[in-house]
Amino acid sequence: MALKDVFINELRDMYSAENQLAKAAPKLTKSAKDEDLRKLFKNHAEETKEQIGRLREAFEILGTKPTGKHCEGMEGMIAESSEALGEERAGASFDAGLLGAALRTEHYEIAGYTAAILMAKALGMKDVADLLKENLAEEEKMAKHLHSTAKDIFKKAAKEAKMDGDVEPPSKKSKMDKDSERDSEVDEQDAGVRTKLTGKSKAGKKAKPAELKAEEETAVAE
Ligand SMILES: [Fe+2]
Ligand SMILES: [Fe+2]
Repeated sequence: MALKDVFINELRDMYSAENQLAKAAPKLTKSAKDEDLRKLFKNHAEETKEQIGRLREAFEILGTKPTGKHCEGMEGMIAESSEALGEERAGASFDAGLLGAALRTEHYEIAGYTAAILMAKALGMKDVADLLKENLAEEEKMAKHLHSTAKDIFKKAAKEAKMDGDVEPPSKKSKMDKDSERDSEVDEQDAGVRTKLTGKSKAGKKAKPAELKAEEETAVAE
């Protein structure tokens, strides 16, 4: 099979994946208990529709149809999301399950677009590569937002578990503390993301670069 055929297969797979996600998104959005998480899912559902439009443009340039392939990988991930939706958990612990599924999904998409962009470049199809890069940028931004939101929600979920007696409080120094120290650099980058989502800032967090802030404001403007 020539590279162009492999490339078209890859794009059809992504087209199927995005359409499955667009269909699944409303239930996920409606089910999230945290307001920021709901906003994040809602915003990305709109982006997903735009991504589908860009993929259609890519297929027009290629002179072929986007349909004809079913993305089994995304079907599996959506099935796992449905399991998380079916869990009878309260508050942050429920959202933690959704976040785990959502992060897996975004990184799957990032991998798919990364491969497709490399193929488009190898084939000299700059117009198609540029369209795919727009989609990839949105997936990467969503993964970053999810990462930031997950840290707060997972902490809340851990507290809920302690209150329920599910988890023994750490007696001494904390592997979690060590992990937190290791994550401190990422925390600083993520502080601005959380600020935008909540409209509030946290004391002690560094301001993020103006360019990143402007990009994020665009993303959550709706
Ligand atoms: Fe997507
Ligand atoms: Fe996505």
